[in-house]
Amino acid sequence: MMAIVGSAVGLGNIWRFPYLAGMNGGAAFLLLYLGLILLVGLPMILSEFILGRATHRGAVGSFKQLAPRSRWYLVGYMGVAAGFCILGFYSVIAGWSVRFLYDAVVNAHAGLSQEEITAGFNAFKNSGWQPILLSTGFLGLTALVVFKGVEKGVERWNKILMPLLIGILLVLCVNSLTLEGFREGMTFLFRPDFSKITANTVLDALGQVFFTLSLGMGVMITYSSYVVKSENMLRSKGIVVLIDTSIAIIAGIAIFPAVFTFQINPTEGPDLIFLTLPNIFARMAGGQYVGILFFLLITIAALTSIVSIFEMMTNYLMEELKMTRRRAVWWLFGTLSVLSALCAQSQVEGSGLRIGNLNVFDLLDLLSANYLMTVGGLLIVLFVGWHISEKRLRRVFTSNGRYNNRLFPVFRFVVRYLSPVAVAVIFLSKIGLIRG
Ligand code: PHE
Repeated sequence: MMAIVGSAVGLGNIWRFPYLAGMNGGAAFLLLYLGLILLVGLPMILSEFILGRATHRGAVGSFKQLAPRSRWYLVGYMGVAAGFCILGFYSVIAGWSVRFLYDAVVNAHAGLSQEEITAGFNAFKNSGWQPILLSTGFLGLTALVVFKGVEKGVERWNKILMPLLIGILLVLCVNSLTLEGFREGMTFLFRPDFSKITANTVLDALGQVFFTLSLGMGVMITYSSYVVKSENMLRSKGIVVLIDTSIAIIAGIAIFPAVFTFQINPTEGPDLIFLTLPNIFARMAGGQYVGILFFLLITIAALTSIVSIFEMMTNYLMEELKMTRRRAVWWLFGTLSVLSALCAQSQVEGSGLRIGNLNVFDLLDLLSANYLMTVGGLLIVLFVGWHISEKRLRRVFTSNGRYNNRLFPVFRFVVRYLSPVAVAVIFLSKIGLIRG
C-alpha cells in the first residue's frame, strides 16, 4: 500500500497539478479533474489491480496470460514507451527540486525580490549544463536504488515522509491565509468559470488523472501482482485515490494565493511552483527551514515515483529481452540521460529543440500523459470490462465473495460503459468530431 502511495504521490501532485490548473482557468479544471477521478481514475486503478492480482504477472505478462495468442500484450509495450517519455522530463523537474533544496540550505533567496528570484531561476535554466547535470545525477541515484533492489526500503520511508509532506503543505495553507492574494487565489481555485472549458482543458484534466495516479502504463499492474493477502480492494484503492487527490488540492491552496500575491502569471506553465515557492519561504517566519524540509520532501516524493517507473522498465528489459539486471539498468540510465538532457536543453531560451510551438520537454509531457497513458488506460478498462469473464472478474473484485458483492455490478457497468465512453468522448471532442 505504501509503495502504491509512493508511486502515486509525486511531482504530479505538487508541480504538475498547480501548473495545469493555472493554465486551464483554475476551478473549472479542478472540477473536471475531480469528476474524472471518480468516473475514470478509480475504476481504472481497480482494473489494473484486478489484472495484477488475477495473474501475479507484470504489465506484458498479465496480458499474455489472460489473452494468449492475441495482441493485447502490446498495451504493455505502450506503457514502456510512456515510461520512457515521462522519465525524460520528470528527472529534469526532480533535478530542479534538488537545486531549490540547495538554495534553501544556503538561504540563497533571502531578501530577494520577485524579479530577482525569477531572473535567478531563468539563469539556472539557461545555463544548460546545470539542469542537465542535476537530472543526470538524479537518474543515477534512481538507477542505483533499482540496481541494488532497495526500492522496498525506500518505499518504507514513505510511512514517515508522506504524513510529513502533508503536514508541511498544511503549514503552507495556513500561511496562505496571511497573504494579500488569499481571496483571489481561492476564488481562482474554487469558483469555476465554465466559459474557460475547452476540449483541451478536458483532455488536460483526463491526462492529469492518469498521470497523478500512475495509470495506463502497467505500473499499478506490476505492483498489485506482488499483493498476496486478500483485501478489500475498493476500500484500499479508494484511500489511495483520496490521499493523492487531497495532496493535489492542498498543494493548490498553498500555491495560488501566493501566485496572486506576488503577481506571478497563473498560466506560467511548468515553472509555476518554482517561481512561487521561494517567495513564500522568503517572507515566512522560519521560512528557510520550512523551505529546506519542503524541497527535501518533494525530492524524495519524486524519487519514489521515478523509481516505480524505472523498476517497471527494468523488469521489461529483463523479462522480454532477457537482459541481466545490471545491463538493463545501465542501458536505461544511458538512454534516459540523453533524453533528459534534450528536455533540459530544449528549455534554454532560443533553443531550436522544438516541434511546432512545443519544445521537447512540453511535447513529452503532453504526449505521455494526454495520449499514451490515456489510450493505454482505455484499452485496459476495455480488456477488464469485456475480455475477462464476469465470474472471474467478480471473484477477483470481491476477493472470492468476501467484500463489496453488491457493488460489483456497479463496478462492472462503469468499466464496461461509463469509463470507456468518457475517455472516447474526450478524444473525439479533442479532434473536433464532437462539439460541446
Ligand atoms: N504519479 C506520479 C506523480 O504524481 C508520476 C508517475 C506517473 C509515476 C506514472 C509512475 C507512473 O508524480
